[in-house]
Amino acid sequence: MSIKPVKVALIGSGNISYTYLNTLVNGGFHIVDVVGCSDLIPERSKARAELFGIRQMTNEEILNDPEIEIVINTTQLWNHTAVTRQILEAGKNAYSEKAMGDTYEGAKANYDLAASKGLRFGCAPDCYMGSAFQTARKLLDDGAIGKPLIAHAMCYRGYYSHMAADDPADPKMGSQGTTITYDMAGYYMNILVNMLGAVNRVSGFTRFYDDRVYGNPRHPRYKSPVDAEIGGQPRGDSMLLGSLEFENGCYGSLTLCSEGFFPETPRMEILGTEGILTLPDPNFFGGWDNQVYLTRAGNVDGNKNQVFKMPLTHGFSDTDPSVPALSGKREPCHNSWRGLAVVDMAYAIRRNRPHRSSPELALHTVEVLDAISKSCKDNKVYTMQSRPVRPAPLEPGFFRGVGEAAIDNI
Ligand SMILES: NC(=O)c1ccc[n+]([C@@H]2O[C@H](COP(=O)([O-])OP(=O)(O)OC[C@H]3O[C@@H](n4cnc5c(N)ncnc54)[C@H](O)[C@@H]3O)[C@@H](O)[C@H]2O)c1
Repeated sequence: MSIKPVKVALIGSGNISYTYLNTLVNGGFHIVDVVGCSDLIPERSKARAELFGIRQMTNEEILNDPEIEIVINTTQLWNHTAVTRQILEAGKNAYSEKAMGDTYEGAKANYDLAASKGLRFGCAPDCYMGSAFQTARKLLDDGAIGKPLIAHAMCYRGYYSHMAADDPADPKMGSQGTTITYDMAGYYMNILVNMLGAVNRVSGFTRFYDDRVYGNPRHPRYKSPVDAEIGGQPRGDSMLLGSLEFENGCYGSLTLCSEGFFPETPRMEILGTEGILTLPDPNFFGGWDNQVYLTRAGNVDGNKNQVFKMPLTHGFSDTDPSVPALSGKREPCHNSWRGLAVVDMAYAIRRNRPHRSSPELALHTVEVLDAISKSCKDNKVYTMQSRPVRPAPLEPGFFRGVGEAAIDNI
């Protein structure tokens, strides 16, 4: 039976818009019909529109077009709250890049607005829908590690806010809500929730190291101490260590540190009563060395534990990174399936079912971060208000046609 495509448009035609448009225009998903894209800098939306054969539009044209049902917000993190509010106020379903907002209050206000208007609201990252993480989810659900007991999630890297040249286009970069915590936590949290369910309580520590200097030789204040404030806002945290108690009884840790070095070191592990799942970098979808490893307990006679590199059972892997982007330029994450959750939202609209990247899932990350930061200041353990359900698993399968069906399975 034919199904009417959902018209989609995108606001913010910068770096990451490439991979969204590539997935949604060229990914073979008939459920989405990308109408156009906009940007405050018209040259950017013009370039993307020409490359993908869609309309260059203004924000107003997008928001006033009665046929457009989903608007994607790929503006910078510090614009997410305001632009998403405009999308929702225009009566459109919204899908935002991560994080849902740069403060819990801003994210919650948009969450409430979407709920009061009966609109859908979803948020990146959607890497949890990728082959590696769906394979891991199936292994866990099939009992490969027994009962999950402990989950570790860590991102260790250097950071732009110390390294940047003085970029006038990014006046808020490095302020509260724009640093590694809000930038990276969603990748790890969405995978933790996909595997284990919601977090019940958190506590932890956060800090910013004020003894750092600007590390980019092109920065006008190269080697001088970094500012404690940016644009009148306090500098954001560069380190977070949180303790997580999941609803299912599993304990976890979330570690985010940007005081280190690039290339970044991502680590994710879920340890259970009978085995250990070692997951790849949550910033990717899977494949191309982003594999899932299963450690199974040895036997009582003292045999060693066995480590298996698991075959991926699901579609939506990263594609060959050495194949250049269509634009011929360097486009971040150009070989990924970012935007897959928009496809799911489009199906969900037509099927009248929940979409996987729910507003509760997105709000959860921001609430966890906010609560860990508060916990550090006032020595308290916080109970989460947001309670996302685990997103429904995708069907196993590899081919594009099957892949499309794999999303439309609930
Ligand atoms: N660059 C990456 O590697 C990457 C990867 C994953 C996710 N992301 C996320 O994607 C988002 C965007 O990142 P980016 O690197 O593409 O940033 P970018 O600066 O390249 O693009 C953002 C664009 O949004 C436009 N914009 C801002 N406010 C607007 C408004 N009100 N109306 C219309 N356009 C507006 C800007 O002019 C800019 O062109 C961020 O949340 C980032 O964390 C980026």
